[in-house]
Amino acid sequence: METDARTELLTVADLAGPPGLPVVGNLPAFARGAIPHRRLYGWREKYGATFRMRFPGTDVVVTSEPGIIDTVLRDRPTSFRRARFVSDLIDELGAHGLFNAESDDWRRLRRIAMRGLNAKYVRASFGTILRSAGRLRDRWGALEGQRIDVVDELLRYTLEVSIGLTMGHQPDAGLHRKLSLVFSTLGRRLNSPLPYWRWMRLPADRRTDTAVAEIGELILSRYAEARRRMADGAEPVDFLTALAKADLDGEDPLDDADVVGNVLTMVVAGEDTTAAAAAWTLHFLATHPDVQRRVRAEAAEVFGGDGSLVDASAVSRLTYAEAVVNEAMRLRAPAPYLVMEPVADTTVTDGTRELSLTRGTPVFVLLTYGAETDTGRYPDPEAFRPDRWLTQDAPVPGAQPHLPFGNGPRFCPGRNLALLETTLLAAMTCQSFVIEPDTSAGPVKERMTFALFPKNLGVRMRPVSS
Ligand code: HEM
Repeated sequence: METDARTELLTVADLAGPPGLPVVGNLPAFARGAIPHRRLYGWREKYGATFRMRFPGTDVVVTSEPGIIDTVLRDRPTSFRRARFVSDLIDELGAHGLFNAESDDWRRLRRIAMRGLNAKYVRASFGTILRSAGRLRDRWGALEGQRIDVVDELLRYTLEVSIGLTMGHQPDAGLHRKLSLVFSTLGRRLNSPLPYWRWMRLPADRRTDTAVAEIGELILSRYAEARRRMADGAEPVDFLTALAKADLDGEDPLDDADVVGNVLTMVVAGEDTTAAAAAWTLHFLATHPDVQRRVRAEAAEVFGGDGSLVDASAVSRLTYAEAVVNEAMRLRAPAPYLVMEPVADTTVTDGTRELSLTRGTPVFVLLTYGAETDTGRYPDPEAFRPDRWLTQDAPVPGAQPHLPFGNGPRFCPGRNLALLETTLLAAMTCQSFVIEPDTSAGPVKERMTFALFPKNLGVRMRPVSS
């Protein structure tokens, strides 16, 4: 990068940042139970758009600066990669797939994954999504007036959809339990100050190893079946059959680890994030009866006379329901930050200052900092106002970032599926029920695990006609 005479040249050590504790530095901000992005936003206010934190053995950069974020997210995989400490955690759980692959390995897996997630398969899975949403609605109908812990319910819903889309079948209770264990281990390790499991395996870690091995066996047996069907000339209908076809055609040969890792990655990347988005959507619906009424009116129009939806394309007419989901994700993004690192020594610039980064320096990218601070784009930012998404202008260059699905070549490939699942669920729920908040467990707060979930969230549902 050329340096302009007026550009100030900095190293990470020159950046301002919060004081840390001896040895652990600022790591406690990420301990279990903390809400890291809120702490990072607070420091951002105090130390500026790009500041420094300290982790054991390394300085860490945190940035909400749009130009730097753009460089870090777009120059992948050539100049930046996911931070090793994140990728290694996921690899250790046997889910080596698209999310944590790098360089040519990533290029190959992205090609395969995009084939398995293309619009045709997502449309084909519409029936699965509709059936799963319908089952959820029936369960909620049976719980009329009682407190419903919607987070658990929504995790089951998004898991059903992920398994349906990837493997073409319904998860049984055993698979659900095993995957829940994998998620809770991942959440615990992501928020653990020290990688204790590398030195000592607790009973929960051993149970997780067994669960991962059993899930792997299940995926491989489903894959063998998918290959047989593809060899007999059938058309691919889901992610697994798309992989089998690519493998058989010799386009992208796959080994067992590729198959298990990629299926697990799709489930891990899609389940918690989408359940979190849906849970926050229900929270805001429950607390905004006027918004609920508008979603209900729109659903009545789009779902037609018998109240059922037969065609995926109709979901695109649920524009207000989708605006509700986008507004919920603006205020409570499931993934408020990502962590990258440069693959070699490099520099980044915010236009006036150039910052040199040594290879491997973790860079926290505050993906959605602008959601609550960019008052030009989101006037009255604390208000829940879905209408703003119906009249949104394109962001102006330099606007504060709001990138809930990331950006650049590694942009989330599941975005359309996630919006389809959550928009449909919001519309179907409002069509059938009046949603009321239940605060008997305490006020709704944020809780960070693999995604940002609502804590204490409970609602009561009453049939619309009553
Ligand atoms: C509301 C729900 C979701 C949110 C907020 C979300 C968010 C994200 C974010 C922030 C990234 C990182 C993007 C980047 O590095 O620039 C990502 C990547 C990814 N997401 Fe999603 N996601 C969601 C749903 C899904 C679903 C349903 C799937 C699967 C069907 C999925 C699969 C993936 C995969 C495989 C990657 C890695 C892509 C790559 O590295 O090339 N996500 N997602």
